Amino acid sequence: MSKIIDGKSFAAELRADVAKRVAALKERDGIVPGLAVVLVGEDPASQVYVRNKGKQTVEVGMQSFEHKLPDTTSQETLIDLIDQLNVDESVHGILVQLPLPKQIDEKAVINRINPDKDVDGFHLDNVGRLSIGDNGIVPCTPLGCIMMIKDQLGDLSGKHAVVVGRSNIVGKPVANLLLQENCTVVITHSRTKNLQEECLRADILVAAVGRPEMIKGDWVKPGATVIDVGINRIDAGDGKTRLVGDVDFASAEAVAGKITPVPGGVGPMTIACLLHNTLQQACRINDLSVPD
Ligand code: GUN
Repeated sequence: MSKIIDGKSFAAELRADVAKRVAALKERDGIVPGLAVVLVGEDPASQVYVRNKGKQTVEVGMQSFEHKLPDTTSQETLIDLIDQLNVDESVHGILVQLPLPKQIDEKAVINRINPDKDVDGFHLDNVGRLSIGDNGIVPCTPLGCIMMIKDQLGDLSGKHAVVVGRSNIVGKPVANLLLQENCTVVITHSRTKNLQEECLRADILVAAVGRPEMIKGDWVKPGATVIDVGINRIDAGDGKTRLVGDVDFASAEAVAGKITPVPGGVGPMTIACLLHNTLQQACRINDLSVPD
């Protein structure tokens, strides 16, 4: 039987650690980290994410600033708001919820954020820093993945890691992080030949492809660590829907050494890492060490 990696409790531990340090920062330096979240439009899934972010931000003792703008917002209005948040000293992290409505150029907005406040790690400065192994801000979901993998396996040197998916948000940054940990990294995608064979070589298999239950048990090397980043809502057949990952959990669990479930695996780590990044930046912007 494989060991199921409990992302929910790992994320709760990380949030408790952040909360302790936030209290210490307030006590030592009188600074309360602040996170601004910008939501444009009324996409139901985005509304749920934004609500959860706001709630968890307050729970760890940080200030939460929510900016909800109508679907018809112009790029100019959004850029003006970013400019204001960039110079607001009570704001240490800015997150613009994606996707944005089609009249807005996503890249222009993201790259307008002060890179020191870009707690999503999507600004070109931070992407570049990650690619050269420099000390920038790491995107939240990849950071959550690497924290869980290191927690489970310790030293990753020499391990063979296979990443399925090449998105800018997960696949590429997670591959860079694994490379920094001295793994041998293979990035695979929809045009990869013999994908099953590639996956079968993995000591660490990261699935971030957005295809429900694509990776089956006979794609997994016995004893491998499987990290499932997918969140797919599928028809459960009884008029209801259910959440599944990119990995076929039932068959993969029988083969893997360690595996993340969906839900309750990588998902909860994303917001915990966002809070971690916000605390780090509140300290960095003020030239302070992160409290113990
Ligand atoms: N929409 C879905 N995931 C994310 C994320 O990690 N960051 C932002 N800004 N928007 C998202």
